[in-house]
Amino acid sequence: MTDSEKDQEPTQQVESARKAFEQEFERFARFIGDSADLSALSLEQASAEQRSLADVRTRHLGKKSALAASKKLIGRVAPELRAGFGQLVQATESTLIGAIDQAEQRLKNHIEAERTARESVDVTLPGRRPRLGHRHPITLVRERIEDIFVALGYAIEDGREIETDFYNFDALNIPANHPARASQDTFYTTTDLALRSQTSTVQIHAMQRRGAPVRMIAPGRVFRRDTPDPTHNPMFFQVEGLCVDRGITMSHLKGTVAEFLRRMFGVDTVTRFRPSYFPFTEPSAEFDFSCFKCKGAGCRICKNSGWIELGGSGMVHPNVLRAVGVDPQEFSGFAFGLGIDRMCALMYGLDDIRLLFENDVRSLEQFE
Ligand code: FA5
Repeated sequence: MTDSEKDQEPTQQVESARKAFEQEFERFARFIGDSADLSALSLEQASAEQRSLADVRTRHLGKKSALAASKKLIGRVAPELRAGFGQLVQATESTLIGAIDQAEQRLKNHIEAERTARESVDVTLPGRRPRLGHRHPITLVRERIEDIFVALGYAIEDGREIETDFYNFDALNIPANHPARASQDTFYTTTDLALRSQTSTVQIHAMQRRGAPVRMIAPGRVFRRDTPDPTHNPMFFQVEGLCVDRGITMSHLKGTVAEFLRRMFGVDTVTRFRPSYFPFTEPSAEFDFSCFKCKGAGCRICKNSGWIELGGSGMVHPNVLRAVGVDPQEFSGFAFGLGIDRMCALMYGLDDIRLLFENDVRSLEQFE
């Protein structure tokens, strides 16, 4: 090898390093320049290209690259050629770095733009409407009852679901060992506390708090040790009504219940009262109304009788008035109570009140 050949060698080395780079970089060249268009590149493809480009950088500019080896030769070339050779190495290196940096910057920009587009929320898109629920059929019936009585001048009282024997029985003229306690057997928590078996308890609270005169209804949940069947649940809803004032008679009771049922089921609804017995009313009566479906002719809903049984009522027993410190010589009153669940089942054509508490939305959503 001649001296001049030796001097040529490093230059060729740089030249071949540049060529090797250009060959490999060819596929990245499309990412640079004014006409470069990366739009067809997916986020995943662009990330893969970015990784390959990093490998190219290591291979052609890293410590073990041909260009790095050429740099080491700078000191060894003839002094008169050294400056020129050094400039060549540097110029080649800057060309490589420039090309790689440009391609990398374009890829980086593209990746960022793609990520932003993917993660961004288009606020102009129409929103997804949340599925609206609706009130439970029992609530719907309860609210209708409340509206009617509020219009008649009644207040709505909220009661307690856990009661003492006094409110559930004694104050309602049902002393210990009275047989009526058995028919309304309930769930006892401790010796003196029980889940209320009827909303009549609220009569006592209301009169204790408000005294007389009083006009109120009390809708709410009650509990009994009843075995579930199509017309019984151990937990159900009742609404209680109470009106105490001077000169209240049975005709006020009949007029109020009849008006309530007319507003509930239509103006041609007929009401009838049958003598009955409740310890806390005297006289007592159960009330029925003419079937809203067949108007009294007889159908499946009224079991062909033309009448639907609804609840109990009567004139408040003087003992109940005495128990809350209201003078029965001065005041008299009537009370009534009915089961909301059975009424609801009748109105919506359910043949089993247990459906109301299975909470199967397919069944409940029919009754908006
Ligand atoms: C009473 O509970 C009396 N407190 C009603 C009353 C109030 C009478 C004021 C006089 C004056 P009774 O036990 O009949 O009465 O129940 C009233 C209504 O509750 C029934 O007509 C029925 O519709 C409903 N009911 C009773 N037991 C159940 C049950 N296990 N499941 C669903 N509904 C029931």
